[in-house]
Amino acid sequence: MEFSVSTDAPDAVPCDAIAVGVFAGGALQGAAHRLDEALGGVLSASLAEEKFEAKPGSTAAVHTHGRIAAARVIVSGLGAQTEFTLDRLRQAAAAAVRRTGDLHAGRLALTALAIPPHSSAALTQARVEGTILGAYQFTRYRAPRTGQVEHVTLLADPPQRDEVERGLQRGRLFADAAVFARDLVNEPPNVVNPAYVAALVEDIGRSTGLRWTVFDDDALRAQQMDAILAVGQGSMQPPRLTVLEYIPPNPRRTIAIVGKGVTFDSGGLSLKTAEGMVTMKSDMAGGAAVLATMRALPALAPPVRVLGIVPAVENLPSGNATKPGDIIRALNGKTIEINNTDAEGRVILADALAYAAQQAPDEIIDLATLTGSAVIALGYLAAAVLGNDQALIHRLLDAAARAGERMWQLPLYDEYLEEMRSDVADLKNSGGRWGGAEKGAAFLREFVDGRPWAHIDIAPVAFLDTKEGTGPYLQKGATGYGVRTLLTYLGSEGG
Ligand code: BES
Ligand code: MN
Ligand code: ZN
Repeated sequence: MEFSVSTDAPDAVPCDAIAVGVFAGGALQGAAHRLDEALGGVLSASLAEEKFEAKPGSTAAVHTHGRIAAARVIVSGLGAQTEFTLDRLRQAAAAAVRRTGDLHAGRLALTALAIPPHSSAALTQARVEGTILGAYQFTRYRAPRTGQVEHVTLLADPPQRDEVERGLQRGRLFADAAVFARDLVNEPPNVVNPAYVAALVEDIGRSTGLRWTVFDDDALRAQQMDAILAVGQGSMQPPRLTVLEYIPPNPRRTIAIVGKGVTFDSGGLSLKTAEGMVTMKSDMAGGAAVLATMRALPALAPPVRVLGIVPAVENLPSGNATKPGDIIRALNGKTIEINNTDAEGRVILADALAYAAQQAPDEIIDLATLTGSAVIALGYLAAAVLGNDQALIHRLLDAAARAGERMWQLPLYDEYLEEMRSDVADLKNSGGRWGGAEKGAAFLREFVDGRPWAHIDIAPVAFLDTKEGTGPYLQKGATGYGVRTLLTYLGSEGG
């Protein structure tokens, strides 16, 4: 999809469809009003006839029959003006691009909005993110099911042109990164395995100039990362630990981001049900978010050093698989009794977090499709965040809100850890059914060496297998959750 910026008047832009946002209740304003005048009142009359309520995500299409340069006007509902958020705009842009695709129209123009106190740059970023993410389809293995919008013209009031250009750059960077993560998660597990992740990291390193390191199974043994090895040993595909490093000039501090990269989670010998396994190619969505974020950092250029760490394994049962009862020693020396091989994410993260802590970062953030419990708590609507540093959690909640990615804090009471203690080892990897997301986080905390750390359990939001949780820019399949939150966070964290 190509973008350009134009300062032409809305009625003068030649295109198949021009989209305009409209608030619920009250008369048409701004570009909508100007288009209505150019159309001799046909727009307002059509909307009244259709009883268009401007609900968020709703659209109406009105043909112009040559009265203006655009063939149609697509009206996109923004909801009530008093409830406006940037995410409403993201959704309205996404709804418009979908309607345009359904109409098999290839050239779309988006009118400019002026909604104080939001800057033109922020408003444009939201327009662009909504457009790219709304039009997304994973079409590597099937034909597209709708028309594809090929060109998008972003209208700008002449004095705002530079700001709109900046918003376009940032919106495209953020959305392209989320699309990169979506594609990687949507790829089937016979393609994306640990070796594929390692090759991709090498590729990202070479093409972006980021430093990269891959630990293969021999290197993992040499480094004593036996927890990652234990989860991977049931598979024919040996595990990897991958590291990407972004170093700006004079970094103010170092942030480690760690992503769970289970390229397929069968549960291992504690085998999942057939139904429970169907979407488990998505168990590397945390890793995908980390790789997509790292790949975008050189262009974002934040003044902090960032380490992106992804342990990549396949969790399968076999004659060589880890058994319930096995005891392993993680990188930081703590012993883990495996009492459920399906609680594998925390086991690979034990080594990955301990490795991260050894690099002495100022803070650690991990993203993981860790627990079904988080899905039970939140449905498909929000990720859970837990950690040992309330200020860090607040900063992440704030970044997530700005990115339009819902995140909700769960508690991390010390008592949860009691349930994770083993009779025969320091810890066991499963502590029973209730409070599973909290107990998983309590386990992870044992590996961060007391450093400021936040854990984002993205199991609820990483992958949508039904219509539930979908919206104008979220479709079935991978969502790319976390990428825009991390970029927002890193992009605003000077120090
Ligand atoms: N990958 C799963 C968690 C998951 C479940 C993600 C559903 C997305 C949707 C994880 O490895 C897992 O199996 N967790 C177990 C842990 C339990 C055995 C302690 C769970 O949540 O049931
Ligand atoms: Mn599992
Ligand atoms: Zn898993």
